[in-house]
Amino acid sequence: MAVLSYSLLLFGFLIMAASAGNFNQDFDLTWGDGRAKILDDGQLLTLTLDKISGSGFRSKNEYLFGKIDMQLKLVPGNSAGTVTAYYLSSQGTTHDEIDFEFLGNVSGQPYTLHTNLFSQGKGGREQQFRLWFDPTADFHTYSILWNSQRIIFSVDGTPIREFKNLESIGVPFPKSQPMRIYSSLWNADDWATQGGRVKTDWSNAPFTASYRNFNANACVMSNGQSSCSSSSSLSSGNNAWLTQQLDSASQARMKWVQQNYMIYNYCTDIQRFPQGLPIECTVTSP
Ligand SMILES: *[C@@H]1O[C@H](CO)[C@@H](O)[C@H](O)[C@H]1NC(C)=O
Repeated sequence: MAVLSYSLLLFGFLIMAASAGNFNQDFDLTWGDGRAKILDDGQLLTLTLDKISGSGFRSKNEYLFGKIDMQLKLVPGNSAGTVTAYYLSSQGTTHDEIDFEFLGNVSGQPYTLHTNLFSQGKGGREQQFRLWFDPTADFHTYSILWNSQRIIFSVDGTPIREFKNLESIGVPFPKSQPMRIYSSLWNADDWATQGGRVKTDWSNAPFTASYRNFNANACVMSNGQSSCSSSSSLSSGNNAWLTQQLDSASQARMKWVQQNYMIYNYCTDIQRFPQGLPIECTVTSP
């Protein structure tokens, strides 16, 4: 009995240690032919973009629910035409996806934080924000909380967007397809900056975005089994996120962001949806 509980304890410790974050351990550099780099013993990751190619990485693990934090420092200076995408996605034509995309700009003009959410292959749920700081001057934390009841996008701990589980009124919710974390830095000067009018200035290349302090409190899928189905990981005390929701103070902060920093909301774009707004827009405040 003593031996058994000791090994359970050790197992629990290993699970928690695994979430502490090391890019060598948690991610694969997937494209860019040397333009993506893991540095400082796995504590720092950089992506670069030049005229020939961008670069990207993805998580080794697949997750089905989690609270996932990453710190990003975006391309500084004249970043017009560049897009840094950071997202969770499953695979296939009816995939689920939770997106952060950072659209660069000319020096001194603000980045756009673009968010979207796909469920069972259907997206079209764009919301865009300005940030209340310069995202190129330092690292800031971008988080996705994904549990069975809601998805919350946060910036430095401030929630900016919530997508609730509204399956009860027929809105599909991502809850059965495991997702990987992906990120890439690429050239999108055909549309990204000021509607494609401002092109990438390659004299500023290579462009670099940096990542650190990855942390996942998450259910890891392997061989069809979720790490959260074992009671030892659930009792580790790190799992409040599984049922987390916004308290009234957080709701007030989200409202503040949406009132002051939101620059596009599909839920108020009546011209785009002449047959009526998507159902989720009719029940949640935008
Ligand atoms: C870039 O700056 C212009 C002018 O401030 C602004 O209209 C635009 O939304 C900014 N962002 C992008 C991605 O174009």
